[in-house]
Amino acid sequence: MAPKKIVIDCDPGIDDALAITLAHGSPALDILGITTVGGNVSLAHTTANALRLREFLGFPGVPVTAGAAGAMVRSAIEAAHVHGETGLGEAVLPEPTLPLADGHACDFIIDTLRAQPGEVSLVAIGPLTNIALAVLKEPRIVDWVAEFTILGGTFTRGNRTPAAEFNIAADPEAAAVVFGAGWTVTQIGLDVSTTAQATGPIVERMRALGRLGSELLIPCATFYGMVTASEGPAIHDACALAYLADPSLIEFRPAWVDVETAGRFTSGMTVVDFELQGRTPNAKVGTAIDVERFWDLAMDAYGRVAASL
Ligand code: BDR
Ligand code: CA
Repeated sequence: MAPKKIVIDCDPGIDDALAITLAHGSPALDILGITTVGGNVSLAHTTANALRLREFLGFPGVPVTAGAAGAMVRSAIEAAHVHGETGLGEAVLPEPTLPLADGHACDFIIDTLRAQPGEVSLVAIGPLTNIALAVLKEPRIVDWVAEFTILGGTFTRGNRTPAAEFNIAADPEAAAVVFGAGWTVTQIGLDVSTTAQATGPIVERMRALGRLGSELLIPCATFYGMVTASEGPAIHDACALAYLADPSLIEFRPAWVDVETAGRFTSGMTVVDFELQGRTPNAKVGTAIDVERFWDLAMDAYGRVAASL
């Protein structure tokens, strides 16, 4: 089967980096472009990290296009305390030599989906600002996209606040536009991603991956959180890319999802109604991931990348 064509909108970001690496190494995926958004760290850092990753991992022909620096109507929030000042933890990748593409991320998304209607999947693993701008500028992208997937939200507990997951909390108005756009959002949230942890045995498997392990995966994963034999940091964003490579990894339920934009304590909450109450679902919401098979798929992809460095 031909690999699935994907555009990755991201804010690298430690787990974004591990997700991009997975996508590049997966024979099931073909990255058409990477677009960046301000999120975990500033847009300048997320974009520089995307450019560094492109050259370090070895996909120089894939365009990287920058987008929104911050939320549509709110002040930007960051997570540098989680991802490090520059966004890649303790990983220090060589400075990039290849340029950023011209134009805005939202136009790259629109043009790429328009050029191949029904063929390209869009996956957002950062705040949803670029996606909302694209939907507002060209609402027909909801018909052109093959599938739209996010890593974001939760139907149990948040991480930015008790109610809200970071990517939604960073730009709730954008998320509300995206969930209300008339497509079915494939939502993989914290309920799923927090179970995909880089435990001690996983880090040992990374150690066998030469430069990829020692220069990127391990400095990222171990900076991100404490690692024990049974627990470790959750590699959230990689779950969304693993799903695109093998949809059977994740279980879903149809739902109606609203985004809280006004709540005093709940701003950025994804209010997930599995009961639907007569509505046609606007989302399929991930409820569980096969963690063992997730890591097998990720390690297989990482192994391919490691062998090419
Ligand atoms: C999400 O928030 C960011 O910090 C991560 O990169 C991931 O996209 C998890 O809540
Ligand atoms: Ca991210």
